[in-house]
Amino acid sequence: MDDILIIYGTESGNAQMVAETLQGDFEARGHAVEIMEQWDAAQADWPSRQVVLICCATHGMGDLPSNIQPMFDELDETRPDLSNLRYGVVALGDQTYFDTFCKAGQVLDDLFDRLGATRVGERLEIDACTQPLPDEEAQKWAVEWVELL
Ligand SMILES: Cc1cc2nc3c(=O)[nH]c(=O)nc-3n(C[C@H](O)[C@H](O)[C@H](O)COP(=O)(O)O)c2cc1C
Repeated sequence: MDDILIIYGTESGNAQMVAETLQGDFEARGHAVEIMEQWDAAQADWPSRQVVLICCATHGMGDLPSNIQPMFDELDETRPDLSNLRYGVVALGDQTYFDTFCKAGQVLDDLFDRLGATRVGERLEIDACTQPLPDEEAQKWAVEWVELL
């Protein structure tokens, strides 16, 4: 069973709810799961990690939530080699923001890809306009995602 680090980016709690719901599901399947609420380089400890799941909302006009922006800034600046990592992305957004729908999840996906990490499965993009229960949609996606690890 893989250890999984879940990192979430949120302004109003939806991505946190998704992260905590998936933590429970993964633990029930026997995985050890940690959640990162704020950027913490010591907790991230990338060389020791195998699997990371990013749950991230988009805010502003395609911006990252403020709690996850410091992680982006540091990774983008220091460019660590993350080729030991497999990762998944759950992006939360709203299609009424047509030009920037789920942009933050896409930006983080691109960042981890550039740093050599390997994405597992397809990125999930959850539209708040049509899906009032993001945790339920994420749970369905995660059943298949965790099988791919
Ligand atoms: C002020 C504001 C700006 C937003 N901007 C975007 C956006 O640019 N793109 C997008 O896809 N969703 C956007 N959204 C929708 C949020 O990403 C969506 O509601 C999400 O579920 C919020 O998750 P959170 O509670 O974890 O912050 C925005 C929402 C708000 C309130």
